[in-house]
Formats: sequence, C-alpha cells, structure tokens
Amino acid sequence: MELVPLGSAEEIAVVVADIVERAVRQRPAAVLGLATGSTPLPAYQELIRRHRAGTGPSWDEVTTFNLDEYVGLPAGHEQSYLATIRRELTDALGLDPARVHGPDPDEAGLPTAGERYEAAITAAGGVDLQILGIGTNGHLAFNEQGSSLASPTRIKTLTVQTRQDNARFFGSAREVPQHVLTQGIGTILRARHLVLIATGVGKADAVAAAVEGPVSASCPASVLQLHPHATVLVDGAAVGRLRRLDYYAEVYAAKPHWQAH
Ligand code: F6R
Repeated sequence: MELVPLGSAEEIAVVVADIVERAVRQRPAAVLGLATGSTPLPAYQELIRRHRAGTGPSWDEVTTFNLDEYVGLPAGHEQSYLATIRRELTDALGLDPARVHGPDPDEAGLPTAGERYEAAITAAGGVDLQILGIGTNGHLAFNEQGSSLASPTRIKTLTVQTRQDNARFFGSAREVPQHVLTQGIGTILRARHLVLIATGVGKADAVAAAVEGPVSASCPASVLQLHPHATVLVDGAAVGRLRRLDYYAEVYAAKPHWQAH
C-alpha cells in the first residue's frame, strides 16, 4: 500500500485526476469504479475542468460502475447515486449514460440485483481503477463494520452513524434510506488498482485503523492492506492519528521519478 500525505483536498484532486487520466490514456476502454459522497468531488471537478480545457483524454469508450446505491428512493430521486454520478461527473465528460452503471435498486429485482451487477462488471472485463472514500466508522463502499471480507454485491443495512453522516444530503438522518446495494469487499478487492481518498479531521481515526490497524471486518477499509496495488491519498487533517506519518512522508519525498502511483 502506498500512503500519500498531501497538504489539501485540492492537491489530492490533482493527483487523483492524473491517476484517472493515465488509466484512460493507457486503456481508452478503461473500466472505472466510482465512489460518490463528498470526498471525490474535487477530483471529479478537476477531471471536468481538464476535459473542458481540452487537455483530457477521450472518454468515449470508458465504462463506469458505481460502488453502491440507495434502496427505496423514488425513481429519478436526485440523491440516487446513479443520478449523482451523472450530475457530478459523467454527463460533463460526455459519457453515454448506457456506459454508466450502478446497482439496480428496483424493488422487484432486489433478490438478484447483486448477482446481476457482478455479472455486468465481469462482462465489462473487471474494474481497472476503483476510486474509494472511507466512512467515519471505517466502512468501504457501504460495507459496514462486520461485513464479510469476501462479500459480493448485495443488500446491506446502513448503521445509524452512516445515516447521520449522510443526513446532509437529505435533510435528516430519518430520510436517509436504511437499505443499500453495495459492491462487496470481495468485489472491490478484484479491481486492479484501488485509490482511496480521505480528507478532513473526521476521517483521521478511520484512516489510522485502515492503514495501521489489523485487517479486520471491524474496519472494512483495512482490506486495502491485502490488495497488491492500493494508493491512499490523505490531506493534512486526515493524517492526525497515523503513527508512521514521518515514514510515509519520507517514502513519498524519495519516490523514484519513474514510479507511478
Ligand atoms: C460512496 C461510498 C461511501 C463513501 C463514504 C465517505 O459511494 O461508497 O463509502 O465513500 O461514506 O463519504 P464522504 O465522501 O461523503 O465522506
């Protein structure tokens, strides 16, 4: 795992945009896994800015898969994660909506939604690059504490903490759906490159548990320690509880110029 301590969310956005663009340039038909929530927004805005400036890669052949989706929102609800990713990123990049995927929260199909999503990811050739955030409780996608480390995409129940954390998108925690469909931890581990972004002091404990704690279902994000290519980008506020911060900074400063993230 590479831990990259950067000064600000803006600096992280530039590095993440570089990583995403490199993946798309290397493979124009890249399959990107996308997180929603607040954390990746500066990176998505940076990608849009570069696209509009004409310096970005072609997005025509790119396919995307969201990490997760709320269950029980009315069709077309603006806080659905599919609507969110289109609004915040893929529409502005000109991606055909048919290439932008999320788990299907339609109630009638819920028992098979996970299996169908796994099949769609497999049919696309698997995820090349997966963007991730982290919950204040260490959740990864919507795999809450106690989730199987081998789990596939399936329905999960959000914790009270996560519903409170996400109340800002809805008005109150009560309005945040209790159920979600989420890529499993096993699904996420199959992506070829994981890029986790954490910003703000509220993420400091979760980052320390994920990076320096034991690999455990009590901190689902700790599974990044098992992945052969995981990059964790943290701002100055989210590094506060890391014991080996000096070493990570030293490693990053001495990074060979030929070595990409
Ligand atoms: C969103 C997701 C979640 C968020 C996490 C952090 O698709 O899978 O795991 O990444 O809850 O959310 P923010 O970025 O809003 O703090």
